[in-house]
Amino acid sequence: MSVVSLEPPHGERSSHPIDLFDELPFTGPNRLAGRYLRQFWTPVGVSWQLAAGRAKPITVMNEKFTLFRGTEGIAHVLPFACPHRGTQLSVGYVKEDSISCLYHGWEFAGSGQCVAMPGEREGLCKTLAIKGYPTREHVGLIYAYFGEGEPPAFPPYPAFEGDGLLEVDCELFENNYFQSWENDWDIYHANFTHRTGQLHGMDFDRFIATEEFEETPFGIVRRGETGMGTFFSTLIMPTTVRLVIPTLNEQSRRTGPQLRRTYITHVPVDDTKDMAYVTQLVPVSGEAAQAEYLAALKEVRRIRKEAESTLSVAAKIRAGEASILDYKDHPTLVIIEDQVAQGGQGVIANRYGERLGRTDRGIAFLRRIMERELQALADGRPTKQWTTPDALPDPHQR
Ligand code: FES
Ligand SMILES: [Fe+2]
Repeated sequence: MSVVSLEPPHGERSSHPIDLFDELPFTGPNRLAGRYLRQFWTPVGVSWQLAAGRAKPITVMNEKFTLFRGTEGIAHVLPFACPHRGTQLSVGYVKEDSISCLYHGWEFAGSGQCVAMPGEREGLCKTLAIKGYPTREHVGLIYAYFGEGEPPAFPPYPAFEGDGLLEVDCELFENNYFQSWENDWDIYHANFTHRTGQLHGMDFDRFIATEEFEETPFGIVRRGETGMGTFFSTLIMPTTVRLVIPTLNEQSRRTGPQLRRTYITHVPVDDTKDMAYVTQLVPVSGEAAQAEYLAALKEVRRIRKEAESTLSVAAKIRAGEASILDYKDHPTLVIIEDQVAQGGQGVIANRYGERLGRTDRGIAFLRRIMERELQALADGRPTKQWTTPDALPDPHQR
């Protein structure tokens, strides 16, 4: 029923095979998956959520950092703690392109160079620099690079083509990032996990696909022939998927265009939490229509802010204190549904007892690539040098 093409392992078979399921979930700096993911640009924030002159603490792959945007608008990532006596830098005051520690005023430029040390001898500050992590912005996200040496090419994938508005959000999941990543690559779950909402009444048999998976220079392309047409899904290494999906919130579904080209990227906060960054191109053009959409979006965001948090609802549902049906009108029901399903696998899923079937072939394909790459890293062999795609397949052809 399908064609699978996968590149062979790099070099010889290892005499010390890794235990994939004991490696993939763990992304501390000394673990294989942590070392692997640090070779890529990593989203660390949503651009619109970080105003000029503001700073906040972030945790990425089990390590804490300071994210700030200078008053001139450039975002920077520095270590979490001030090197003087260790208080957290993000509570300090942001200046043009630097941050001044709250405690005794030591000041650090975005590059990490110390530029002021009040009370200390003149010039001493020039001798101190902390690490400044390379930082860039793309399609509404702030990216940083936490790996060794020079970062790879930026941006990691193309911007959307065509006219429209960018709608960008992030959602915290209280489960390991790899569960979320697998979930995005598991298109069949949508018919069941999200049955209360947008997919109600859909004919699943027509959605079952004859699938082909192909490893490409940038990731994986899935081609699915269904009774409803041909669908392409794209995975850009390491943890970005490109899809066409509806808006993820209920109110926007009533106020704006439905299907949107979308990038979703999963970033481990720590091994028990995942941050999902969602960037969508809303196909609204023309000044008046865009202004109208933005006004509606402002209201959507207000409603979302006032609603019970998705994590709290998901926890109640998993505890048996509520049903998903009790929350049919929640403004981000679709996120709750995913949080319930993924969290229901456990905070870190136990994959040893799984029984994979034919609808899990995409997940198996992804795992085999990750196994090959982590094994290469474990053996001290080079991993695949992924490239940035110039263009991606049109996600849906009828
Ligand atoms: S702890 Fe930051 S200046 Fe003293
Ligand atoms: Fe989902």
